[in-house]
Amino acid sequence: MLIVGTSGQLGTAYRALLPDARYIDVDEFDLSRPGDLPAILDTLAPDGIINCAAYTAVDRAEEDETLATLINGESVGVMAGWAGAAGVPFVTYSTDYVFPGDGSEPYVESSPTDPVNAYGR
Ligand SMILES: NC(=O)c1ccc[n+]([C@@H]2O[C@H](COP(=O)([O-])OP(=O)(O)OC[C@H]3O[C@@H](n4cnc5c(N)ncnc54)[C@H](OP(=O)(O)O)[C@@H]3O)[C@@H](O)[C@H]2O)c1
Repeated sequence: MLIVGTSGQLGTAYRALLPDARYIDVDEFDLSRPGDLPAILDTLAPDGIINCAAYTAVDRAEEDETLATLINGESVGVMAGWAGAAGVPFVTYSTDYVFPGDGSEPYVESSPTDPVNAYGR
């Protein structure tokens, strides 16, 4: 199992849960460069990918939406596409920022998205 992103909150939790997995960080696997990722995945040939990496600077994303979209959007799509073609599972994490935040009921995963900021988009 390949775990992408080890230094953050989620990656740290996975390290405790799956200590024997293969962990990879930005120095080897930079999500701001989605075009580089398939060749690295071909070399590593994981049996599954869990993505714990993300651009998480919510306020900074307003001025840096292109980079946020590369890391949180395009590269996630590349990893999902690679995993789909290889027939292996892919797990990634979304954010409650995809929702508008103006409802009165708890959101569920299938609730309509309507982000109000760059991070959510
Ligand atoms: N924590 C929460 O409460 C929470 C709640 C809801 C959703 N989520 C979602 O869970 C996911 C992970 O959140 P988190 O809280 O664990 O985030 P985090 O603590 O900010 O960690 C982000 C990780 O991504 C890595 N990263 C940043 N840019 C990268 C790049 N270009 N290439 C490769 N790795 C890169 C960081 O590495 P460096 O440290 O080396 O930069 C770090 O390991 C996000 O999608 C977030 O939306 C988290």
